[in-house]
Amino acid sequence: MSFWNRRKSVDALAAVESAHRLKPTLSWWHLIAMGVGAIVGTGIYTLTGISAGLAGPAVILSFLLCGIICACAALCYAEMATVIPAAGSAYTYSYAVLGEVLAWIVGWSLILEYTVAASAVAVGWSAHVAEFIRAAGWSFPEPLLHGVMSGGLVDLPAIVITAAVAIMLIVGTRESATVNLILVGIKIAALILFVILASQAFDPARFHPFMPYGFMAHVDADGVKRGVLAAAALVFFAFYGFDAVSTASEETKNPGRDLKIGIIGSMAICTLIYIAVAASALGAASFLDFSKNGAPLVFILTGIGHADAAQLVASAAIVALPTVILVLMYGQSRIFFVMARDGLLPQSLSTVHKTRGTPVLMTAVTGVVVAVMAATLRLDEIALLANAGTLCAFVAVAVSMMVLRVRDPHRPRAFKTPLPWIVGPICVVGCVYLFFNGLPTFTQWWFLLWNGVGLLVYFAYSMRASKLAQPQS
Ligand code: ALA
Repeated sequence: MSFWNRRKSVDALAAVESAHRLKPTLSWWHLIAMGVGAIVGTGIYTLTGISAGLAGPAVILSFLLCGIICACAALCYAEMATVIPAAGSAYTYSYAVLGEVLAWIVGWSLILEYTVAASAVAVGWSAHVAEFIRAAGWSFPEPLLHGVMSGGLVDLPAIVITAAVAIMLIVGTRESATVNLILVGIKIAALILFVILASQAFDPARFHPFMPYGFMAHVDADGVKRGVLAAAALVFFAFYGFDAVSTASEETKNPGRDLKIGIIGSMAICTLIYIAVAASALGAASFLDFSKNGAPLVFILTGIGHADAAQLVASAAIVALPTVILVLMYGQSRIFFVMARDGLLPQSLSTVHKTRGTPVLMTAVTGVVVAVMAATLRLDEIALLANAGTLCAFVAVAVSMMVLRVRDPHRPRAFKTPLPWIVGPICVVGCVYLFFNGLPTFTQWWFLLWNGVGLLVYFAYSMRASKLAQPQS
């Protein structure tokens, strides 16, 4: 079979998985907690500031736009997850529907997304540690709190948290439902506290002009891409993580109902909270001031005289953000693992430790890469690169959903995307648009470079090593 036509069989994937099907125990509210737990992180706690600097008060529209695009993507994910309840998310769906080469590009992009996003969350975490240290009056050398590209020497807290998470993954830590529930509570409570206190200092005059940099993305004289759409390409980071919900499809008691409520519910809750946080931040302080701070919510609360609450919000971020890193690094190792199992990457790289049952070498390598990026690069640049990988994966999932609807319309689907011919195209057009118009040119180039290297690896190694290229398959 030509490599171009290689596809995994949807039936075979579903059958293999049904042999070890998990017990359906989850209800819609478990899914909402899982979704909100995976979604809320550095995006809202940190990127709100930088994004406001790109769009002004109209960053609220950027949040709304991303909420709509991501809700559509989430619905497509949910359908694909019930049709193909197998590990590997967007990569596996693409392998079964779009073929090996496109699946490779999606898998390779997902490796980038998870690795780079983990770095971004580590940098956001570090910014809150820095604020905490400052507010507590402790002395700590400032150059060790920021990476070299952000005016410091090395981001030490980011290295420490990445190493800690990598060690936890090597030891075999998984996020437990109870811990997740507690952390979701902490994260949301801190955001609600912020909204209540910041809205007391609300001044509507700060919303004029509402759209100082316009709607469309454009490069200003200082070389920075601004506008509502440019900010949307950055705040997009705040929304993903919900693929965690769709991967729980087989554990759901009533997928047809619970997945819909779980996914739309977590997306709606996050979008509402995000818009409330952004609106109260913009009303309480000038975006020109807080857009330069790595912990804008903490900065604003301190500025309006709530130093204690500021410390509480910083503490909430410090306690809760590491799980987001954990989920992202775990997701990366899973994708890597599935690609190696398919023969596309060397199996030796994802060998599982005999007693621990975890991919030690791969996790350690990932930890080093995440730490090096987090310790040196600028947060917005890393987040934008992670977004490029995610936008690519979302397009692949929406296209896979639509192609499978045409190719195999009668296949039973426990969950069906409502209005698939509206939801699918909104996701595709939205993501493609954000990729080409919202992302800065250097991010697009880095993404192309990463995939160029990926294709070299594919043609030099994976194409022949693929399980589907072996005579018995
Ligand atoms: N949505 C996740 C965050 O904002 C990745 O940290």
